[in-house]
Amino acid sequence: MCGIVAYTGSKSCQHLLLEGLKRLEYRGYDSAGIATIENGRIRVVKTVGRVANLEDKLEEVGGLRGTIGMCHTRWATHGGVTDPNAHPHTDDRAGICLIHNGIIENYAALKTYLQEKGHTFSSDTDTEVLAMLIGELYDGDLEAAVQAALREVTGAYGIVVMCEREPDTLVAARKGSPLMVGVGDGEFIIASDGSAIVSHTSQAFALEDYQVVKVTPTGFRTSTIHNVPVTPKVQQLEIELEEIELGGFSHFMQKEIFEQPKALANTFRGRIDAKEGKVVLGGVATLAKELIRARRTILLGQGTALHAAMIGEYMLEDLAKIGAVAEYASEFRYRNPIIEEGTVAIAVSQSGETADTLAALLEAKERGALALGVINVVGSTIARETDAGVYLRVGPEIGVASTKAFVGQVAVLTLLALWWARRRQMSADQCAEMLRHLETVPEKIERILAQDAQIRRVTEKYVERENWLFLGRGYNYPTALEGALKLKEISYIHAEGMPAAEMKHGPIALINDGMPAVFIANRGRQYDKVMSNIAEVKARGGHVIAVATEGDTQIAKHAHDVLYIPDIPEALSPMLAVVPLQLMAYHAAVLRGHDVDKPRNLAKSVTVE
Ligand code: AGP
Ligand code: GLU
Repeated sequence: MCGIVAYTGSKSCQHLLLEGLKRLEYRGYDSAGIATIENGRIRVVKTVGRVANLEDKLEEVGGLRGTIGMCHTRWATHGGVTDPNAHPHTDDRAGICLIHNGIIENYAALKTYLQEKGHTFSSDTDTEVLAMLIGELYDGDLEAAVQAALREVTGAYGIVVMCEREPDTLVAARKGSPLMVGVGDGEFIIASDGSAIVSHTSQAFALEDYQVVKVTPTGFRTSTIHNVPVTPKVQQLEIELEEIELGGFSHFMQKEIFEQPKALANTFRGRIDAKEGKVVLGGVATLAKELIRARRTILLGQGTALHAAMIGEYMLEDLAKIGAVAEYASEFRYRNPIIEEGTVAIAVSQSGETADTLAALLEAKERGALALGVINVVGSTIARETDAGVYLRVGPEIGVASTKAFVGQVAVLTLLALWWARRRQMSADQCAEMLRHLETVPEKIERILAQDAQIRRVTEKYVERENWLFLGRGYNYPTALEGALKLKEISYIHAEGMPAAEMKHGPIALINDGMPAVFIANRGRQYDKVMSNIAEVKARGGHVIAVATEGDTQIAKHAHDVLYIPDIPEALSPMLAVVPLQLMAYHAAVLRGHDVDKPRNLAKSVTVE
């Protein structure tokens, strides 16, 4: 899913469109394009590569003028990464211009129909088909043509459309790919998320699925694709500009790793009463009775969010004594799952827009489960589909590789498990003790961050190695998976995470001389077992990098390198153990010269299936 920014108002818009698009670059993309209406004519400039490439091309053509326009960053799904396939796309008759996030699933049938009507195409994309269909249906009313076309479409879309015969009008619509509408003073900004809007206005509303909005500088009208009027809820955008700027760091991922102590302090604020041994979660209080009677929980997520969900699984069973299972949302939704009475589905998601997680949650709801959300983006699609939930409050996460959102998800799942535990069998004293430890996490992360130079030095020793293993047990088995994912997705080194005991069932065959094996070997119930696994790797020539507890005097005799984390109860240790792994991945990517915040092929939020 990529980036959309569009404007209609009184300002010449090329510059503000490009500035908005740069705020969306973090979402990952492969090409970029822009169009304006200048003296009643649509002008389009587009290119593969970065927004900077687009700016160069604009320079060559003398730039675009006009007070209405749109721009887009594409993450190709249909049609290769080529200039003609980049957006915006136009039709061949009615002067239509369109940008699109998502997938038009029935594009092939529509393309055949339009070709039989004599339309000629200049790209291989599904998006151009939609532009051509709107052109075919256009008879002087752009809003009606867009509504009519979308009634013929299946798939996911966030689109903005303009046309030469209505040169101050933008029409936008959404199903599955988020769009927000910024309401300015005599101007409107439509964008994929608030970070491209907040520098112009703090008043905005999100389009819901199957909704269409028509905007002109004098006002807007919102309806459904069947032209049923709807009234949107214009809200205050909660994003502060400084939250979405680099602030002296080299990359957003680095900033967000170092922001984790402050982010977690925000997550905890107002929710922990250690003195009374109480957790205060306003977001779920309304469902307290149903939740207390819950018999099973299913945690749903993808990628990093799934790893956090897996830690939540251990916590809910261990602390709250409630049945729990973490599932790939993408598998759960197609598996014909059994949902018994008293089941609670918990969707874990930073963006709140991940298509598979949304679909899995809806599937569970459909079968009678209560739906909770553990989500970062306020008002996101998944958040709106839940019965209740707890926001992470870690602030906008710009880096494609999720870091502060991961610890935020684990922290909220910890709070949820303790909230539940206190309403089941945990005593106030037991909860008070856990909460006191939980409140030390931000300061303990600060102490780990202070070892950044040492972590970089260890990373440098192994950065040339093409295959790494990450191993952990218990609460830190998911942490090992997360460490492997971080390294893979930004340094492109192949890494595999697994339960440490699993190594002997096959992967140990991979161990060759000098192979890096990262063990999470902090103080815990299975420490001795982890030490045995370390010995097995060393006996075969592997090089062991251990994440261990401060004060452990044994580990240095067995590991080649040791990264220490402060002592903390095992259930809370993933929030600490993950930090050295995040920093190793970051330094490996920098040392390998990769684009840390926009890793190849990746998007910040996967809203297509
Ligand atoms: C994490 O580093 C990845 N970028 C990716 O796995 C991500 O966690 C996953 O796509 C889920 O996204 P969500 O949390 O926004 O649902
Ligand atoms: N499916 C469209 C294409 O491949 C849009 C992809 C996107 O969301 O960027 O061009």
